[in-house]
Amino acid sequence: MSRASIDWPAVRQDFPILSEEVHGQPLIYFDNAATSQKPRAVLDALRNYYEHDNANVHRGLHELSSRATEAYEGARRRVAGYLGAASADEIIFTRGTTESINLVAQAWGGKFLRAGDVILLTEMEHHSNLVPWQLLAERTGARLRFVAVREDGTLALDQLPQLLTPEVKLFAFTHVSNSLGTINPVAELCRQARAAGALTLVDAAQSAGHLSIDLPELGCDFLAFSGHKMCAPTGIGVLYGRAEILETMPPWQGGGEMIVSVALERSTFKKAPHRFEAGTPNIAGAIGLGAAIDYLERIGRPAIFAHDSQLAAYAAEQLAELPGMRVLGPRSERGALVGFVMEAVHPHDLTTFADQNGLALRGGHHCNQPLMRKFGLPGTTRASFYFYNTMAEIDRMIEILRAAVRFFS
Ligand SMILES: Cc1ncc(COP(=O)(O)O)c(C=O)c1O
Repeated sequence: MSRASIDWPAVRQDFPILSEEVHGQPLIYFDNAATSQKPRAVLDALRNYYEHDNANVHRGLHELSSRATEAYEGARRRVAGYLGAASADEIIFTRGTTESINLVAQAWGGKFLRAGDVILLTEMEHHSNLVPWQLLAERTGARLRFVAVREDGTLALDQLPQLLTPEVKLFAFTHVSNSLGTINPVAELCRQARAAGALTLVDAAQSAGHLSIDLPELGCDFLAFSGHKMCAPTGIGVLYGRAEILETMPPWQGGGEMIVSVALERSTFKKAPHRFEAGTPNIAGAIGLGAAIDYLERIGRPAIFAHDSQLAAYAAEQLAELPGMRVLGPRSERGALVGFVMEAVHPHDLTTFADQNGLALRGGHHCNQPLMRKFGLPGTTRASFYFYNTMAEIDRMIEILRAAVRFFS
């Protein structure tokens, strides 16, 4: 479906929460990079599961348990198809991006990293793609190294050949920056890492619901994302891992579901993905994620990306017209968000002022403290968009920000 043929106002009607009023004003929800809203199709799938199929998976020999297992494993196949994975066995359900990255750090990093090895990151990583590696480095004696971010919000890619030395065992980087909106050239970064003998992990938290992701084309070894940023419920996420690598990784959490046999002194473990899913999983969450993927694919990611990037480009252009305004991030292609700073107003005050007008923005460091420090900022205000947002909402945001400038100066 082309972007033009989609009835966007009708799509917006799929999201009951968007009719809410906040402080007596119609809600404008521009905090989608933090979490997205949920369409009726996902809410119905959750309700249907709990009303008709609810049971534990993989263990019961009764009808409801078979239905729940089929729905849960069906969701795994759905995710594999969405990403272009070779097999559903490469899809591990987690609580979200953060847990996916911690899984790799503990299970893969704990086994394979040695003192002197290097994990290459970038200066634009979210804390969840930084702190797990810091903890791992402390435990193993490995070191961290960083690709710099340039003033325009893009990565200093010319540094990459010097940074990718033989000690680098893993290059972990974000697809889309949650503060700057930068879209990194994943396939090229993976190609260079592979040529240097390093594995790659892509943090797709800000891209999985916005951009087409084709794993064979990207060529990464791991990819992590959260369902809640792409219309699914909170508490469900995904780690994709290449089959040959998952096979070499030990479990990271022990418990029920992940074992083949248990004796008092030792146990043997299932293959991936179940080896990495100890205990009762988030069954409803996985089903909700499957429904979210069905929903997003009905619209189509190319149309979603075209719509969102048009909103982001328009917002960046309009914001730049405001007095004392600094817009962060690349001028050309950007993801569905814009970070900005206004001379006259602290980001927290601005966000509170916006909220009083029904406008949900995000103010603060966005879990990017090192990046904020690099840009000499206490934080920024962020407007982040999804396909149910409109140009008219951006015009209203600009009006509210103009009022904020008057109010604070
Ligand atoms: C780029 C990026 N990585 C990781 C995360 C962490 O996601 P979660 O809190 O869902 O685990 C976020 C969330 O904002 C993000 O934007």
